[in-house]
Amino acid sequence: MKNDLLIRAARGEQVERTPVWMMRQAGRYLPEYRAIRKDTDFLTLCKTPELAVEVSLQPYRILGVDAVIMFSDILIPVEAMGQEVRLTEQKGPELPDPIRSRQQIDRLVVPDPNEKTGFVMEIIRTLRRELDGAVPLIGFAGAPWTLAAYMIEGGGSRNYAQVKRMMYTEPVTFHALLDKISDTIIVYLNAQIEAGAQVVQLFDSWAGELSPKDYTEFALPYERKIFESINREAAPSIMYINGSGTFLEQMATCGADVLSIDWRVNLEDARARVGPKFTLQGNLDPCVLLSTPEIIMAKAREILRAGAGHKHILNLGHGILPMTPVENARAFIEAAKHQGP
Ligand code: CP3
Repeated sequence: MKNDLLIRAARGEQVERTPVWMMRQAGRYLPEYRAIRKDTDFLTLCKTPELAVEVSLQPYRILGVDAVIMFSDILIPVEAMGQEVRLTEQKGPELPDPIRSRQQIDRLVVPDPNEKTGFVMEIIRTLRRELDGAVPLIGFAGAPWTLAAYMIEGGGSRNYAQVKRMMYTEPVTFHALLDKISDTIIVYLNAQIEAGAQVVQLFDSWAGELSPKDYTEFALPYERKIFESINREAAPSIMYINGSGTFLEQMATCGADVLSIDWRVNLEDARARVGPKFTLQGNLDPCVLLSTPEIIMAKAREILRAGAGHKHILNLGHGILPMTPVENARAFIEAAKHQGP
């Protein structure tokens, strides 16, 4: 492989410089992405390998990121489990028939990933062929708590009232749903690794909404089960949670090689709290990319210094925002590529 910085950093090995990529790096801030989306709705894009491969490669070609993440969405396996998923322009994901009962959970299936989401594996195989070892390919999935939140809320949420209502009043039913999602994600990620994903990232984006105690009861055990059950010899793993600062020490027991943290915690403090074993990924506030290239360079360099050139992957603390100017995204990538001593 020509540039395997990300894989070596994820495994905690020495690297010449800190690798860099951005969560949600394929997306609406790129005019080239908007050009393809103009004629294709989002889910169709996810299910058309030729187009999904093209948009996955855009950030690599345009910005020179050190890794490509396959273009898809965390809700793709939810649809394969049998729950209808829509993506609307204004409101984001919408699931018109939200899960509210045990019967609905029992009707959900654990889908065969190659049969029901074969297009994802086709995207991965094609990306590996097209990349030909240029940079590593990242596969991903949503974690059970976050997926359950979408499935029960029926979309995004401000205070997670419905999912927490079920969690507190019907914990047995809720655990049954989390179990079914875990079984789905385990075979789904293993199929991605089998198809050629070289690193996998698990997104428990909204687990930061939980108290530390609820996190250890309703999110962490399922993250752990997933990392215990996937082929980590073949692909190192990254755990991402938005708002993990309140329970970083617990998150560190999830079994991932890399902990991806947001901007609410200093990288040095995170390192002190989880110990030297972990590679940390992050953690620039994506809103910094709305400033100027000079400010972005300076703030990225601060994080690079805190990362100290080893066991660190430069990234944002959450996904890049659609209104980000492309030249600002480029400044962020360039900061990692031209690190001082
Ligand atoms: O990182 C990448 O470039 C790969 C693609 C990717 C998408 N979604 C594409 C997408 C990844 C890794 C995701 C993960 C995802 N999806 C998460 C976890 C990451 C996070 O941000 O916390 C979550 C919570 C979702 C659910 C989701 N999908 C939301 C909330 C939205 C709407 C918000 C928005 O940005 O519009 C989506 C839609 C979505 N997923 C878009 C993209 C590029 C925008 C759709 C469009 O083109 O209109």
